[in-house]
Amino acid sequence: MIVRGKVRPPGDKSITHRALFLASLSEGRSCLGGALTAGDAKSTARILRQLGVDVGPLRPDARLSVRGGRWSQPRGALNCGNSGTAARLVLGLLAGRALTVGVTGDASLRRRPMRRVTEPLTRMGARFTGNDPDRLPLVISGGHLRDLTWIPPVASAQVKTALLFAAMIGRVRVSVEEPARSRDHTERMLRYLGLPIEVDGLRLALDGARVPANLPSLDLTIPADPSSAAFLVVAALLADGGELRIEGVCVNPTRIGYLNVLRRMGGQVELIDEREEGGEPVADLLVRPSVLTGTEVIAEEIPSLIDEVPVLAVAAARASGETAFRSVGELRVKESDRLSLVASNLRAVGIEAEVQGDDLVVRGAERPPAGRIETAHDHRLTMAFAVLGTVREADVRLSERASAAVSYPGFFDHLARIGADG
Ligand code: S3P
Repeated sequence: MIVRGKVRPPGDKSITHRALFLASLSEGRSCLGGALTAGDAKSTARILRQLGVDVGPLRPDARLSVRGGRWSQPRGALNCGNSGTAARLVLGLLAGRALTVGVTGDASLRRRPMRRVTEPLTRMGARFTGNDPDRLPLVISGGHLRDLTWIPPVASAQVKTALLFAAMIGRVRVSVEEPARSRDHTERMLRYLGLPIEVDGLRLALDGARVPANLPSLDLTIPADPSSAAFLVVAALLADGGELRIEGVCVNPTRIGYLNVLRRMGGQVELIDEREEGGEPVADLLVRPSVLTGTEVIAEEIPSLIDEVPVLAVAAARASGETAFRSVGELRVKESDRLSLVASNLRAVGIEAEVQGDDLVVRGAERPPAGRIETAHDHRLTMAFAVLGTVREADVRLSERASAAVSYPGFFDHLARIGADG
């Protein structure tokens, strides 16, 4: 494949969720440009509407208008679909409200761990009922909260955000000490809104009593999602010639660990026209096909690239030598068991890959990948293996393609548009 042209991936998923939730707390009208309109964003928009928030239609290329304020008792449970971020963040926001609300999700989300948020929120004073406090469906009864100091056992931006949101609504103080830095979009957005978030290294705190009762409305342009851009970056690196420009990508350092890894492997990726939008660093990425060599991705790097491991494993499958991803056990509890599925799918197309404890080890090969991929309806597996299918003489068949729409509705069109046979 020869790559060419320019492409702009959809709006950032993490920033879209946060912007929607924060806008839902303001009585003023918020205006969001560039918001993600994919399945996961629709889930958050849908549950907010159920809670009485006025969320306009999510349309690509149109600014999204949100008017919130007081939330009302929803009819029926909130269905968060496939979105772990929607579920964990809404639990944080419900913890400080005198409402009793059911929260559920699709089969994948109902298998994902929730104790990481229900335990600290219970300590703050929220009550949960359900068969298992670690799994949806759950019913949360919020109300009067207490201060909390929390050291989460795993670095999780969702947990950190849920607790900061609980502090805001419950008007209490929450301090979180992260074991490693997770994505910091919430901290940036709170600062952008002028709210008193305190950050000191890995410690952060928010005193809800100092947050105004009616939050300022949000006027924000959301940059393109670096996690979605990652699929295009790897497709371009694996191509046979040409050059690709990926426009308007969020290059927040907590999100672009994958670019450091790809560059270490020999990937030619340049950041150009660096600027700042809405409190986030943004740039265009210029990518040229490159000869890749295996590397070791160490545990400290993982939080900054956790969602990109599947596509980095695909890059590793085409690199010379071995690539090891250390301490990637968290992949077992994503939208699917990504750790075992990345390894088994790589083996299905003829690549040596194995899980060793919590590590993933991939040995690159030159022969064209061929075989059938079981995506398990996981958007990131679908897109990662579609990228592997673009290499010369590959014969990669996906069990389905629809799941890409969870985070990147136009993915297959973009993939077709950036490449020409050559
Ligand atoms: C996200 C945080 C990450 C990431 C997920 C989105 C967020 O999960 O994997 O896709 O928007 O906060 P963790 O909170 O488990 O790190």
